Amino acid sequence: PHQGELAQKIVEITGLKKAFFSNSGAEASDGALKLARVRTKKRKFVAFMHGFHGRTIGSLAVTHKPAAREPFEPLGLPTTFVEYGNLDALKKAVDGDTAAVIVEPIQGEAGVIIPPDSFLEGIREICDATGTFMIVDEVQTGMGRTGKWLAIQHTKVEPDIVTLAKGIASGFPMGALVAREGLEFTKGEHGSTFAGGPLACAAALATIGVLEPLLPEVTRKGERFRKGLARYNPRVRGLMIGIPVGDKCPDVQKECAENGVIVNCAADGNLRLVPPLVITDAEIDRAVKVIDGALGKVML
Ligand SMILES: Cc1ncc(COP(=O)(O)O)c(C=O)c1O
Repeated sequence: PHQGELAQKIVEITGLKKAFFSNSGAEASDGALKLARVRTKKRKFVAFMHGFHGRTIGSLAVTHKPAAREPFEPLGLPTTFVEYGNLDALKKAVDGDTAAVIVEPIQGEAGVIIPPDSFLEGIREICDATGTFMIVDEVQTGMGRTGKWLAIQHTKVEPDIVTLAKGIASGFPMGALVAREGLEFTKGEHGSTFAGGPLACAAALATIGVLEPLLPEVTRKGERFRKGLARYNPRVRGLMIGIPVGDKCPDVQKECAENGVIVNCAADGNLRLVPPLVITDAEIDRAVKVIDGALGKVML
C-alpha cells in the first residue's frame, strides 16, 4: 500500500506523471537510460564533463570522471561528453540517433557547479528540436536540497525524466525515476526484487512529511551560511554550498573534523557543504564558526 501512496506523492511534488522506484541513484540513472532507449529507439547519449550519475555499468557510461570510468572501459553505451554550460557544443553533439541528454541542474560531485543562466532551457530546446529526451539527474539536487523539491523547478523547463535518490528516504536505500505523461515502461521492460518495498516507501513518505514544512526555510538557511562564509565566495543554492579552496581542501576537511564538523572535498579542491535540511540556525552558526576558522587557518 505504501508504494501507490508514495508514487502519488512523488508525481505531485515533481509535477510529472509516472514513478518507478529503485534502490539507489545509480539504478535510477540506469532506469532512465533504459526508458530513453526503449521509447525513442535511438542508441546514443550525451552527458557533461565533470558530471556524475553513478557507478553501475550503465550509469558509469554517462559519468565523466576518468578515474571512475576508465578502468571499466569499454562501457556499453555510446556517450559523448560535452563541456557543462556550452550549448554550442551540445548542439553539435546531439543528432538524430541521440536517445537522451542527461544533466545535473547543479553539478554535485564536481563541486557544486552552477550552470550559466538559460543553460537548462537551452538543453530543452535542443532536445525538442531533435526528438531527444532530457533526463534531469536530481539525485543530489532533489528532495528540497535547493529550496524547491527539484532544482529544475527554479526554471520553467519540463524534463522528460527526473531521477531521485539520496535524501528521498532519509538514508534508507531508495531511489526513483519519474517520467512525464505518456512515458512509461511496458510490462517486463524493467524491474527489481527489492525496489519500492514497503519499508523504503514508508521511509520516503515519512521523509516527505518531514521535509514539506521545512522547504520554505531551506533558502533562508543557505543564505545564513552564505553570510557567515561570504569572504570565501561560496556558491550557494539552498543548502547546497560549494567553496573554491584548492589543494588545501583536505587540510580544511581535517581541521573541521577535529572540531566536530564533517565537510567534504568534492572535485578540483571544492569544499562541498550539503547539511541535512533539518539543520537548525544554532547548528548553522556553530558549523560556520568551525568552517570559517578552518578556512582562515589554512587559506588566509
Ligand atoms: C548526481 C548523482 N547522480 C547519481 C548518483 C548515484 O547515486 P547512488 O550513489 O545512490 O548510486 C550520485 C551519487 O553521488 C549523484 O551525485
